[in-house]
Amino acid sequence: MSNARSLELPGGIQMPSLALGTWPMQGGEAAQAVESALRLGYRHIDTAENYENEDGVGEGIRRSGLDREEVFITSKFNKKWHSVAGARQAWENSVRRLGVDYLDLFLIHWPNPDQGTYVEAFEGLVKLQSEGKVRAIGVSNFKPTHLQHLLKAGLHPAVNQIQLNPTCVNPTAQAFHREQGIKTVAYTPLGRGTEFLDEPVLRELAGKYGKTAAQVTLRWHVQQGIGAAPKSANPERQQQNLEIFDFELEPEEIDRINAMDTGVTAKMDSDSFGH
Ligand code: A2P
Repeated sequence: MSNARSLELPGGIQMPSLALGTWPMQGGEAAQAVESALRLGYRHIDTAENYENEDGVGEGIRRSGLDREEVFITSKFNKKWHSVAGARQAWENSVRRLGVDYLDLFLIHWPNPDQGTYVEAFEGLVKLQSEGKVRAIGVSNFKPTHLQHLLKAGLHPAVNQIQLNPTCVNPTAQAFHREQGIKTVAYTPLGRGTEFLDEPVLRELAGKYGKTAAQVTLRWHVQQGIGAAPKSANPERQQQNLEIFDFELEPEEIDRINAMDTGVTAKMDSDSFGH
């Protein structure tokens, strides 16, 4: 798993482990960042209905000149579409805004357990997948208890995208995903760039490998088989975040980074927050 450039999803689908996160970029800024990232070598772009930037992301993909099938596109949909018919409408809206005719990965953005209809939303995703409208299906911000409800209904998400970084390791979720064969993808993998990149452990390892603390952090993700979607609008930092496949952390270094965990599992509690 040392050079985990991609993660294998059911059906042999290869998902690039490093994605460009696009929140909170919109319009022209999103288009520019996506075009830049794709020209630098990114092949996975992460967007969502709620980011209100799918149009800009689509524009950036077109401007890159890459063929559609060279780019892995993840999007996510909101709670108003949590039904079988709703998921289809959400898909139609996303592909129209992006200007594409299929998605690589489509996720339920938040479980919204109070609404209580994420099982139906996932059934809608299964239908879309069986029609070839999405290649892979999954969820985001689901706790193990939410995942249990899907699994009990015979529904199996390929991916759960959650907040995950050295101060927010969430070992319980990670272990549950591993047991169930669900791939973990991290959002806010760099903690918005300001929360922990100055920590001594990361600085020391950065010095040892001639890398930055951000690169060490993203290496920590991908080396453990976890995808990561760092956002950057800056081409130099985009490039930096790609250059994580030419060094390898020692197992005890991974453990030292894990020890930065504060026990906080997510900024927003998905039992009460969600859109
Ligand atoms: P910028 O867009 O100016 O590069 P996260 O994805 O964890 O939320 O982090 C994104 C934030 O971290 C953004 O503010 C981004 O700013 C910043 N960032 C992205 N890559 C790096 C990096 N390699 N080093 C430092 N900050 C970074």
